[in-house]
Amino acid sequence: MTTSSPFTLRLFEPDIGSEECQAVLRVLESGMLSMGAMVETFEDAFARFLGVRHAIAVSSATAALHLAHHVMGTGTEDEVIVPSLTFVATASSVVYTGATPIFADIIGEQDLNIDPDDVAHRITSRTRGIVVVHYAGYPVDMDRIMHLADQHGLYVVEDASHAPGSDYHGKPLGTIGHVGCFSFYTNKNMTTAEGGMVVTNDDNLAQRMRRMRSHGMTTVTWDRIRGHAYSYDVTDLGFNYRIDEMRAALGIVQLNRLPASNKRRRILMENYLTGLSQNCMIVVPFGLGVENVSYHICPVLLTDGMMRESVMTDLRNRGVQTSIHYPPVHLFSLYRERYGCRSGMLPITEDVTQRELTLPLYPSMCEADVEHVLDALEKSLTTVATPKGI
Ligand SMILES: Cc1ncc(COP(=O)(O)O)c(C=O)c1O
Repeated sequence: MTTSSPFTLRLFEPDIGSEECQAVLRVLESGMLSMGAMVETFEDAFARFLGVRHAIAVSSATAALHLAHHVMGTGTEDEVIVPSLTFVATASSVVYTGATPIFADIIGEQDLNIDPDDVAHRITSRTRGIVVVHYAGYPVDMDRIMHLADQHGLYVVEDASHAPGSDYHGKPLGTIGHVGCFSFYTNKNMTTAEGGMVVTNDDNLAQRMRRMRSHGMTTVTWDRIRGHAYSYDVTDLGFNYRIDEMRAALGIVQLNRLPASNKRRRILMENYLTGLSQNCMIVVPFGLGVENVSYHICPVLLTDGMMRESVMTDLRNRGVQTSIHYPPVHLFSLYRERYGCRSGMLPITEDVTQRELTLPLYPSMCEADVEHVLDALEKSLTTVATPKGI
């Protein structure tokens, strides 16, 4: 069944085939629906893929981020530095702990990632941690961030929701900070519909996150089914952040597909970059990158933010769905009202977030689809930029 849509080209489409359908069906038929062998197999495969000691599958990246801050002991007296150019969960997971999110600006229109210099300026005696987001899958300057963290005794959480399969100086993103968090939401490079993973090389943090994922219990159903345990204790006030067996089965197949689908994204990005380089009304941040990049989205910046809505409407009329990544988090009502955030606090983020436009990008697109988007974009920009009557 397909859902009706006004778009001939959607912003993204999940890459789900018969292998995924069969994997989910097998789990349903097995009768073991949660916290069984699939979750463990998925975690082992993901840990191997990243070359990290521990991977703990959870219900979402939001849950992963919250677990990370929670096991660090972050609380009401603390501040955590975060970017504002991100999905709101990067900041709200800090708010869950009672800590204050401190927003830092990005580098500039060629690099939309958090600026280590601005992070350094915002460190106070209350700062406990730094969260980085590898925007679109392009790496943050992790050397600078880890150096700052070492200097000031801070922890680093990598929100790698966009970045499965991206590297930085040969190391997979998500494995450089103290904890890495991944999202498997529907629009991500690999999906379990809803789901996430938290990874770390720290045995102690891993043990605590694993326990907190499931109510603070010392054993889980799978331990008891295998006869490894008969009962359990509850040592902490934990959460239910578990993922189920169907999602884990889906994740295993999607993880196998990930390297090929990231490669496909790269080819499509090459085509986009060639076409976009000829358009003087567009700035393309980042470029292709020198290492493995996941190319989660294709962001471009219009030279004039005033025309973004008209361009999006015109593109919609030409059948092309676009989006915005993201409205700046610090200017959402909650953050204005609770933390006194104001316009002008983050000039580069505020400028870029008025001009950013996300173009369709997903592995099953073909080269002709990219051509179609480029052609539609050029026509839309000309239509919108030309004063009426000319
Ligand atoms: C950068 C970033 N962080 C966090 C999240 C939250 O992910 P989830 O929906 O899995 O909780 C997302 C998902 O959109 C994201 O893009």
